[in-house]
Amino acid sequence: MTERIYNFSAGPAVLPLEVLQQAQSEMTSLNGIGMSVMEVSHRSKHFAPVLEAAKSGIRQLLRVPDNYKILFLQGGASLQFSMIPLNFLGQDETADYVITGAWGKKAIKEAKRCGDAKAIFSTADSGFKSVPTQDELAFSENARYIHYTSNETIEGVEFKYDLDGKGVPVICDASSNILSKPIDIEKYALIYAGAQKNIGPSGVTLVIIRNDLLEQVPENQHSMLDYRLIAENDSMLNTPNTWGIYIINLVCQHIVKHGGLAAMEKKNEKKAKILYDAIDTSDGFYQGHAEKSARSLMNVTYRLPTEELEKQFTSEAAACNLDGLKGHRSVGGIRASIYNAFPQEGVEALVEFMKDFAQKNG
Ligand SMILES: Cc1ncc(COP(=O)(O)O)c(C=O)c1O
Repeated sequence: MTERIYNFSAGPAVLPLEVLQQAQSEMTSLNGIGMSVMEVSHRSKHFAPVLEAAKSGIRQLLRVPDNYKILFLQGGASLQFSMIPLNFLGQDETADYVITGAWGKKAIKEAKRCGDAKAIFSTADSGFKSVPTQDELAFSENARYIHYTSNETIEGVEFKYDLDGKGVPVICDASSNILSKPIDIEKYALIYAGAQKNIGPSGVTLVIIRNDLLEQVPENQHSMLDYRLIAENDSMLNTPNTWGIYIINLVCQHIVKHGGLAAMEKKNEKKAKILYDAIDTSDGFYQGHAEKSARSLMNVTYRLPTEELEKQFTSEAAACNLDGLKGHRSVGGIRASIYNAFPQEGVEALVEFMKDFAQKNG
């Protein structure tokens, strides 16, 4: 098959076709140098402008102020679950965690190995369907930081506001909604994201960190876990994922060309509305997982009347070139991930399929 299908995968996820085509056209010779970006030294004059462009693309899109560093790390967003407490949570110290889904749970598990990581708010008992309002959050007096997940990819619940730490540094896992809308970076001390949803391919993690946090890294930190050392070495303490950084640059250029994050947000709101409307007008055949106020614009999660019907739904959808709709193995159901690069026509095709499926099986 050579034509593209509609790819609803939660990550790695769909990338803009124009980006793939540009990468294809430069695959064997980047800017006429006779080598691909994967074949040149990360310390060469060929790669330096790629790294600079990727950093400035992120800085421009998210309006990152000068007192923050932009880092490209490895180990996925999952390594950040450990790196954050290893750098900022001592044995006798407290950090606050807001748990609204599976990824937040994984984050606090790692933090508990280092110090007193407290779940100050959790929606586990109600099945991870909602997020707290700012007023519902009370932070520990001595918290070193507050950690939350701005979009829980598995359950499809999303914060609609930038959490305010009221003086306590805010750390955010934004893996599945970064670059989907404008955010106020100055609300965050550190924000991180695995690239493989809205930013680029897997294998790179974006970390945006405020300079004052770099000063708090313990002196005896392992080098590869040391934000300060990595920042001092411009993400090149060891060999970075050069290919991934190259694609991130292309994705940033693509987003800028298509109107920046405000335009992404508009498009994403429109796409999500089409899909949620289809769920809400299905006479209960489709049941959304998240409470309406917390519905994710990126990962739309819903159930059918039975698991058998869900199986049938995903296999018939795949036969219609609607791929990747199976919900995460931990929760089941259907999950349609509709990141920036996912086209509105694909959402419309899914809605048509859903209507037809409900009519035949309802
Ligand atoms: C919100 C969130 N956090 C963390 C992760 C883990 O990312 P990685 O696989 O890059 O470690 C994911 C992966 O899907 C995610 O969606």
